[in-house]
Amino acid sequence: MSMTSGFESLATPLDSSSHFARQRLHLGVCGSVACYRAADLLRHWQRLGIQVSLTLSAGARQFVTPLLFESLGAAPVYGGMFEPGQNPFAHLEPGQTAHAMVVAPASADALARLARGFASDMLSAQALAFDGPLVLAPAMNPRMWAHPAVRANVDTLLARGAHLVMPVTGGTACGDEGQGRLAPVQEIFLAALKALSPQDMAGRRVMVTLGPTRENWDGVRFWSNPSSGLMGAALAVCAWLRGAEVSAVCGPGIRLYLPCAIKRHDVISAQEMFSAASDLWSAMDMGIFTAAVADFSPEPPAQEGKFKKTVAPEGFNLQFRPNADILQSLAGKRRADQKVLAFAAETAPNTAALLPMAHAKLARKKADLLAANCVNVQGSGFGSSTNAMAVVDASGTEALWPLKSKADVAWELCSWLLRI
Ligand code: CTP
Repeated sequence: MSMTSGFESLATPLDSSSHFARQRLHLGVCGSVACYRAADLLRHWQRLGIQVSLTLSAGARQFVTPLLFESLGAAPVYGGMFEPGQNPFAHLEPGQTAHAMVVAPASADALARLARGFASDMLSAQALAFDGPLVLAPAMNPRMWAHPAVRANVDTLLARGAHLVMPVTGGTACGDEGQGRLAPVQEIFLAALKALSPQDMAGRRVMVTLGPTRENWDGVRFWSNPSSGLMGAALAVCAWLRGAEVSAVCGPGIRLYLPCAIKRHDVISAQEMFSAASDLWSAMDMGIFTAAVADFSPEPPAQEGKFKKTVAPEGFNLQFRPNADILQSLAGKRRADQKVLAFAAETAPNTAALLPMAHAKLARKKADLLAANCVNVQGSGFGSSTNAMAVVDASGTEALWPLKSKADVAWELCSWLLRI
């Protein structure tokens, strides 16, 4: 995935989570060409029901006005330290109300002030009076970012527990090339959600298979399915938000933003997915198998290039051979401490009708937890942003979940995995 494009607009798998509603973030915006992107960030968080207060540094107020952020619903929007009519204790408010503080873009000046503990401007004073999680997303000229003074300030802040969203490499506004561009909005959006999440999966290594696979029947065409990968991506991101170290084995064509801390292994065919997942499995504590793996692959016609019409003017038959079952194979040779979450895509009249099949498939696949959904019901299954699920575990516990966002299903499945 490109981390340098200024036009990156991929959705994140958590865009419809309801889990963060009514949480409170404080956003500090510093003077930088990138400060216009703070408006986008604000809207991303607000869509989840997060309440955002905001401080514009003196530099930021040269680029944008408080009115922009007030109009978008940030409240309150703070400016300078001694503005008339302002609460004399405004510098303490984020420390009293916000669950996390984010500085994006964070200028070299702000990093220096925060590292030294200055309190002579509003943002620095608010940061000093804030003892919750602090997320910093720097943006500056590449030579400034590389300067030992900036490096030392970043090290000081990291040693104190701040979370850094690394600037990315590319062309900067001044025309220089190098590392210093503000990270993609999605990366900062998700870093803040991580700061708001319990770290109850810390220390767990989690592998997720997701998306479709493609099985070629000639050199250029394939057999596949419409899986978007959203359910698996939501699980991967939820596990990462909650502190897990996550590896994602991704089928082709997934148009979703995954944070760069998730180790991504891109594959095309069922065979490639099997081999990537097998390589990773022994190092994992949990396996989450959401991929819509093709159960069969066409036996390709003889030639490797494009199969020509003229070869079969009357049509032709394709032979299919079975693929390995990745989940069943890896669950079958797991250690006792490895947990396995399976999925089942079924056609049934309703979710309740899935329960007997879910219990049977859980046992057959040797999983600890299985979540089944009806792919023939509207709003559930391939390509939708929601799922209604029948969930069963190996102890016989079962649940029927009404339609909810895949982000919320993912959050609850992670909680269930931790309980068993
Ligand atoms: N799965 C897998 N490898 C395969 C097929 C399926 O890892 N070759 C995993 C899926 O990721 C999912 C689970 O097995 O977690 C169930 O997939 P599903 O398609 O519902 O079941 P199948 O075993 O393919 O059985 P059937 O299609 O006959 O219902």
